[in-house]
Amino acid sequence: MEMRFGLVGLGYHGQHGVYPAFDEPDAKDVKLTAVCDVSQTNLDWVQKPVEKYLSAFEMIAKAPIDAVYVAVGCDRSREIVLAALAAGKAVICEKPLAATAEEARFIADEVRRSGCLFAVNFETRYGRRMQLLKRWISEGYLGEIHTIGFDKMWDCHKSFTDTAPRRARLLSLTGGLDCGIHQLDQARFLLGGNWEKIHAMGAWFGEDFTPPPHISIVGKLDNNVVMSLNASLAFTSNIEPREGLDNVTVAGTEGVIAARKLTSAGTDSEVTLTSRRRCEKVIIPQGGHSSDIAILLAEFVKVWKNGPETPHTFASAEDGYQAQLATELAIQDALKNAGKA
Ligand SMILES: NC(=O)c1ccc[n+]([C@@H]2O[C@H](COP(=O)([O-])OP(=O)(O)OC[C@H]3O[C@@H](n4cnc5c(N)ncnc54)[C@H](O)[C@@H]3O)[C@@H](O)[C@H]2O)c1
Repeated sequence: MEMRFGLVGLGYHGQHGVYPAFDEPDAKDVKLTAVCDVSQTNLDWVQKPVEKYLSAFEMIAKAPIDAVYVAVGCDRSREIVLAALAAGKAVICEKPLAATAEEARFIADEVRRSGCLFAVNFETRYGRRMQLLKRWISEGYLGEIHTIGFDKMWDCHKSFTDTAPRRARLLSLTGGLDCGIHQLDQARFLLGGNWEKIHAMGAWFGEDFTPPPHISIVGKLDNNVVMSLNASLAFTSNIEPREGLDNVTVAGTEGVIAARKLTSAGTDSEVTLTSRRRCEKVIIPQGGHSSDIAILLAEFVKVWKNGPETPHTFASAEDGYQAQLATELAIQDALKNAGKA
């Protein structure tokens, strides 16, 4: 049996990431049967023979769907997610789950009350690099883990291109953490625990957004792991040439993992394990939004068919809340430290 999806939000990510994911080979037992956007132009872009709606609420009420995929932006997700849950639909919601931690808490509580299947799309959990780190960590090569660090630096398709308004929209909501929220999730995905403390400083690069386009965070999980994250959507954003970094280091009493990727110079990621029991270097080719979302879709259907106890990798609403909480605390602290709060 196929799980029938309605996709709400055919913006940049809806068109380039989510919509093509339904045609990926890994997207087994899923079918896109309806789409929705408030923009008729975006609806007209859709070529598949699916039902089209200008209202998410109408789509939820009328379309032949089992699940709703929400990709409208974190400031507009809430009412659509709640309407879908009220109608008994399964829901996948793009990160960030909500505009505030309070809103994310509310959604997570509603998910529990509804009993509906729910996932937040932290698709980087499915990337081959993340899966390798997860395996090496679970095999105990690092011993007791004390720190994890990330650099996630890119330009979000530049501040002067035709997608600059979209970049501005995302930056005005969550700044550099629109993308860096993936790393806040990855820390917990790899090492467990919940956020206990968060401190941060921001840099604005002359841009006029409230949340900082670049943020440096030091945080602590309640399992005593210390996390650091440099997250930027301002890295080479004002110049033509591209440069980007996507690095992760994990350090324990018995070894370390260092994963490095220069996003401008090529697509491969170099991952090294240096530990008492094993030393290894692995080169991992670049994945993509659609291929990772396809794996999420397939896993989501599997849990829908086999029941909620089915083991899965996807992020729950609680995971979405934890990432939102860390995001909000970091932005608030960065604003306070910059005298902007
Ligand atoms: N998982 C990832 O790695 C990843 C990557 C990129 C973006 N995203 C997330 O996806 C979300 C969307 O990002 P985007 O770049 O596509 O934004 P966008 O602004 O380009 O697109 C949003 C779309 O939603 C539509 N929309 C807005 N309100 C609506 C409503 N009430 N009903 C129906 N449609 C509505 C808009 O018309 C627009 O087409 C954001 O939360 C973003 O953070 C996730």
